[in-house]
Amino acid sequence: MHANPSLDEALAALRRGEAIGLPTETVYGLAADAHDPEAIRRIYALKGRPSDHPLIVHVADAVTASRWAGDWPDAAEALAEAFWPGPLTLILPRAASVPDEVTGGQDTVGLRVPSHPMALALLRAFEGGLAAPSANRFGRISPTTAQHVREEFGDAVPIVLDGGECEVGLESTIVDLSGDTPRILRPGKLSRPEIEEVIGPVAEGSDGDSPRASGTLASHYAPRAGVELLARAPLVARYHELTKRGQKVAALLRGQPFKGVEGEVLPSDLAGFGHALYAALRRLDARGFDVLLAELPPHSAPWAAINDRLRRASAPRDADGT
Ligand code: TXA
Ligand code: MG
Repeated sequence: MHANPSLDEALAALRRGEAIGLPTETVYGLAADAHDPEAIRRIYALKGRPSDHPLIVHVADAVTASRWAGDWPDAAEALAEAFWPGPLTLILPRAASVPDEVTGGQDTVGLRVPSHPMALALLRAFEGGLAAPSANRFGRISPTTAQHVREEFGDAVPIVLDGGECEVGLESTIVDLSGDTPRILRPGKLSRPEIEEVIGPVAEGSDGDSPRASGTLASHYAPRAGVELLARAPLVARYHELTKRGQKVAALLRGQPFKGVEGEVLPSDLAGFGHALYAALRRLDARGFDVLLAELPPHSAPWAAINDRLRRASAPRDADGT
C-alpha cells in the first residue's frame, strides 16, 4: 500500500487499468477508466456489486459530459450550469461509445462533475471519464475519509488519494433526465426545491422499474448493527429498555447529548449532520454495538437525503447481509 500517493502515481495506475480511491466532495469513490471494460469489471469484483447496477461516469466539465450522453437536453445544460462542479448526477441517454459494463446494459448513463479539487485535477489530467461508485463494499456505508477506503479494501486497492474528510458526506443527488419528466432517483444535499428552481417541477422516487440504482434498494448504507429510528423521548426509553435486556446499545443524537445515554452527538445543523453522519456510524459499528438508536431528523425538504439514508440504514436486511 502506498503511504501517500501522488496525483501522478494515481494517473499511472488508472492508465494501467487499476482502480484507485478517489476523494470527492460527497463521498470517496473507487475510480477506474470508464472506457476500459476490464477495469470496470475489476470495480464490480472489488465492491461485490451485481454487474447490472450501473456506475456514474465522472468527468472534468459539462462539455465532456455531453459527449458521454447521446442527447443533451436544455434541462441538462441548465442544471450543469447551476450546480457543476458539485454533488449532482444526471442520468441521460447514453452515447454509443459508453461500454455496457458502465451502464449495466441500460440505455442511459449517469454523469457527474465533482467539485473536490483533487478529483478535478485528476480528471483534467486524465482527459477521459472515470467510472466511480462509492468506495465501499456493496450495501455498506460509503466512505468519507481515505482511511475508511483503506479499511474497506486494504491491499486490494493500493492507491488511495487522500483528500481529507468529504465536505458533504452524503452521495450526490441523482436526477433522471432520460424520461418524459425529470425525476429525483436519489435525494442528496442538493434538494428538490433547489432543482425545481432551475428546471421546474420534478418527480421523486423510483418509477417502479428494476433496481437501477442500488442506493435506492430498501436496505443500503447499512452498518452491521441493527438501526432503529426514533424521536428523542421514545429513543431514550428504548435505550434503557434494551440496555436492561443486556444489549449493547448506542444512540446517535442530534445537537444535544442525553445524560446516561451512550453514543455520539452529531451537529444539529443540516450541513454539519450530513458531513459527520457516515463517520459516526462507522465508529459506532467498530465499537461492536448490537443496536444503534438514531434520533429522527426534521422532516423538511432539505433533510430528505438524511431521512432517506437513515431509513435505508434501518431497513431489514436480506439474508445475504446486503
Ligand atoms: O456522490 C456520488 O454519487 C458518489 C461519488 C463517488 O461520486 N458515487 C456514488 O456512486 O454514490 P454509487 O455507484 O455508489 O451510486 C450511484 C447510484 C447507484 O445507485 C446506481 O445504480 C445509480 O447511481 N446509477 C448510475 N447510473 C445510472 C443510470 N444510468 N440509471 C439509473 N441509476 C444509475
Ligand atoms: Mg454507493
